[in-house]
Amino acid sequence: MTQAKIGIIGGSGLYKMQALQQVEEITIDTPFGSPSDALIVGKLEGTTVAFLARHGRNHHLLPSELPFCANIYAMKQLGVEYIISASAVGSLKEEVKPLDLVVPDQFIDRTKNRVATFFGEGLVAHIAFGDPVCVNLASIVADAVDSLDLPEVNLHRGGTYVCMEGPAFSTKAESNLYRSWGATVIGMTNLTEAKLAREAEIAYATLALVTDYDCWHSDHDSVTVEMVIANLQRNAINAQKVIQETVKRISINPPESAAHSALKYALLTALDKVP
Ligand code: ADE
Repeated sequence: MTQAKIGIIGGSGLYKMQALQQVEEITIDTPFGSPSDALIVGKLEGTTVAFLARHGRNHHLLPSELPFCANIYAMKQLGVEYIISASAVGSLKEEVKPLDLVVPDQFIDRTKNRVATFFGEGLVAHIAFGDPVCVNLASIVADAVDSLDLPEVNLHRGGTYVCMEGPAFSTKAESNLYRSWGATVIGMTNLTEAKLAREAEIAYATLALVTDYDCWHSDHDSVTVEMVIANLQRNAINAQKVIQETVKRISINPPESAAHSALKYALLTALDKVP
């Protein structure tokens, strides 16, 4: 099977990478079922990468329906060591404006209805998750944004991403609660991916594309799908530029990542006792 060291997961509005060359569509089956869609492997800046549309290329999967385990497992099967995840988010802070880019460094889990581990059924492990994104990969993503000097785009390095279950957006009471916790942005997918990537020893970082002010802001309408898509279409081009620049930087100087040895001290079950 073709191998790729870098994986890209595209969220709402980012269903393909225009600049990919020598494209090959790979359908992968995993012990966790099929991924969201075929993985698109191709060359970006001369480097082989694997792209996956998180919700499917036709956007047919709800956040709670996403085959997270299959998606990360498929990336691992292709040899992926770094995942760059591009995702639409709502802002929970005045200074984080629609069309801004955020590279979060923390997550809060508000999911309720999904499997977020490869372990269980006789195999017990607890990965460290205090720093849920790879700090080195995240700073490459942020440096890539900075280097591009994108007009009218502010970059926020670090910040806390609240991962909610959805599919309905938050109530005002919830949105204000997350603001009182000091959280920066809200989305529906990235924490689950980050956990599974860590268990799979893949470095993971998020490029969060701000599309709205959720529902807390008195001067802005509450988030709607129309708003999310309109703003995403405006910054999907920027996201692709940032990903391309990030891929270039990773290939020149692949960062070290604690994620690559995440299982070293995590397993409790003796491997010869695994059923
Ligand atoms: N994705 C984009 N905007 C969002 C919001 N306000 N809440 C949750 N997910 C989102």
